[in-house]
Order: sequence, then structure tokens, then C-alpha cells
Amino acid sequence: MSVVLLLNGPNLGVLGRREPEIYGTDTLADIEAAVAEEVSVQGWEVLSIQHDGEGDLVGAIHGHCDTTVGAIINPGALMIAGWSLRDALASYSPPWVEVHLSNVWAREQFRHESVIAPLASGVVVGLGAFGYRLAAQALLHLSGQRRVA
Ligand code: DQA
Repeated sequence: MSVVLLLNGPNLGVLGRREPEIYGTDTLADIEAAVAEEVSVQGWEVLSIQHDGEGDLVGAIHGHCDTTVGAIINPGALMIAGWSLRDALASYSPPWVEVHLSNVWAREQFRHESVIAPLASGVVVGLGAFGYRLAAQALLHLSGQRRVA
């Protein structure tokens, strides 16, 4: 069974009630279900992990690097200075996509750079929870399982 790692960082466990005017009303469970639906077309499954602490995210990446076919990662504010997260991802060889619900470039200056983006296969920004579906489709595409127009 092929498994996609869905990794969400700090403050994303409370999606749905966290600043819904910015992040929308979908919960993390809604997002998990959406990603699962997308990848199910190839019989893939989703392993969803959310941690508020960077060390736990690093552990999740190392713990699942050999057993997952790709990853969707929203690092939350760790995009700004999550250097150990960045270094863990440097040794994660399957394709992975960075997702941000909000359009970080339309927000405060400190959100305008991501230390992990240079390592990502691609980045989806500003499309809300739908961005996770697009990231899932991108992983299928990158693995040769799906043609995206
Ligand atoms: C976020 C954007 C980050 O700047 C912020 O710290 C988050 C959420 C997003 O999904 O839009 O926690 O990653």
C-alpha cells in the first residue's frame, strides 16, 4: 500500500476555529478526508501527522521517509526559520509539496520567505484547503500516476 505523509506544523491542529477569516473553516479532519479522497483514485492512503513542536515534525519525517511515496507539508510559521525541519526534509527523498492556506505574500513581510521552499517539488499558496487537494494531485502526477492538464 502506497502512503502519502500529510504533515502539518504548529497551530494547524486547530484549523476551523483558528482565524477562520484567514485560514477558512475547514478542520484538519476535513483536509485529511479531502487528501485521502484525492489519492484514493490510485489506491493510496494518507498518514496524517500534526505537531506543534519542530522536533516532533523532524522525527515524523525521519520515521516515515522510507515508508511513504511523497508528502504534503504545511510548516506553519516554521516556514520562516525552521532550519532543523529544513535539514530533515533534505534527507526525505520522495517528492513533497509545501502548502500554505493563506497567500503568505499578501501578508506580513516576515511570511514572505520559506526556508523549506527551495527543497520542495512545488509550493501551493493562497488557495485555502483546496490547496491540499492540488498538492495531492501534484504528487500523483509526479509519481507518474496521473496526468494533470
Ligand atoms: C500558514 C501561513 C504561515 O505564515 C502561518 O504561520 C501558519 C499558516 C498557512 O497555511 O497559510 O501557521 O502556513
